[in-house]
Amino acid sequence: MRTVDLIQKKRDGGELSREELAFLIQGYTSGRIPDYQLSAWAMAVYFRGMSARETADLTLEMAASGDTVDLHSIAGVKVDKHSTGGVGDTVSLVLAPLVAAAGVPVAKMSGRGLGHTGGTIDKLEAISGFKVELTQEQFVDQVNRHGVAIIGQSGNITPADKKLYGLRDVTATVNSIPLIASSIMSKKIASGADAIVLDVKTGSGAFMKTLDDSIALAQAMVAIGTEVGRETVAVISSMDQPLGVAVGNALEVRLAVETLKGHGPADLEELCRTLGSHMLVLGGKALDTEEAREMLSELIAKGYALKKFKEFVACQGGSPSFIDQYSLLPTAKHVVAVEAPVAGYVAAIEAEGIGVSAMLLGAGRETKEAAIDLAAGLLLRRKIGDRVEAGEPLVELHTNRTDPKLLDEVKRRVLEAYRITDTPVEPPQLILAVVTKDGVERVG
Ligand code: URA
Repeated sequence: MRTVDLIQKKRDGGELSREELAFLIQGYTSGRIPDYQLSAWAMAVYFRGMSARETADLTLEMAASGDTVDLHSIAGVKVDKHSTGGVGDTVSLVLAPLVAAAGVPVAKMSGRGLGHTGGTIDKLEAISGFKVELTQEQFVDQVNRHGVAIIGQSGNITPADKKLYGLRDVTATVNSIPLIASSIMSKKIASGADAIVLDVKTGSGAFMKTLDDSIALAQAMVAIGTEVGRETVAVISSMDQPLGVAVGNALEVRLAVETLKGHGPADLEELCRTLGSHMLVLGGKALDTEEAREMLSELIAKGYALKKFKEFVACQGGSPSFIDQYSLLPTAKHVVAVEAPVAGYVAAIEAEGIGVSAMLLGAGRETKEAAIDLAAGLLLRRKIGDRVEAGEPLVELHTNRTDPKLLDEVKRRVLEAYRITDTPVEPPQLILAVVTKDGVERVG
């Protein structure tokens, strides 16, 4: 087999066989096939797409490219959740203890943030003492004893995806439905989940900008899950503005605690309830999503979800005292308001611009090796639909950086991300569709 023939076949709209995909993925992972040839293939996939069968085969090849996690010694249906990437996406910090409190075991591997998107592992490191590295035995043991563990991706899980994702990032081939679907699903399959709930973001701050493309991505991932016997449900939610009100590691931890106390922002609460309800149904703890939603509301109202969060923090070595005293979290020295230049109604908040602003304040990293400031980030004081008067704060910047040029640049970016109009604006609908193996249900 020759790599150039496979590139040509895809370039001309052909369908690669399992053996051909195995040749490409194994060859690339081992270093035998160079970046430039895989780039050409990825670009051909970008334009030509892949059949459902090809996408499933690519996923399985990538899942098999490294270690796989065996969760069989954990009793119950292990349901994992994965987001396609957003800004202010505090969901995992809320959902993990919440669904664990309902009796669904959560054995989760999460990632770090890169660029304008955050990562759960960085957020957890804002908690003093919290250990994000556990051995496989400790990980399984903790889930068996406490029902929940979240660790960083350890070992050599899906090295093919790691390498290919890095290549796609610099060759303008990220936004391809089969490549995103196989990237996400290969990691979920390798990390051992029995069932998967996907949080597919759509809109200006997401990889997929339109609802139709997001539904197509969701359908591709549900088809892969179904093909490999892992029941998969995808919820499509709006990323036309950041989720919740906090962007930045310690700020998001604090918001997660507020949400578990029942005082979270409406959109974050709603998304957690929707995703959580599907996790409870897949985990066999509720008959339908209505029943599951009530269970989740009760777990928050009665304080069980917060209690599980405390237990989770403590058993991973963290000190839970910050839950009652937020000043124990990393706190920025400076809080700077970005004020509305005119009065009106917030019509748009471009999520990527807000994510990049948080990164510039120190909350995120531009390169994988960069250090981050866990205290840095921003709080949104106004969201779409809110009224604001001129001079009132739109956003609070939390930062330890004092360079006036940098702060001016961040303020400029924040103001560019906000659009204010004279006429009242309806907040965007949050949950737009649910995709299962039985079809697509559009909401509203
Ligand atoms: N998240 C992933 O893990 N992979 C992609 O390709 C896009 C988002």
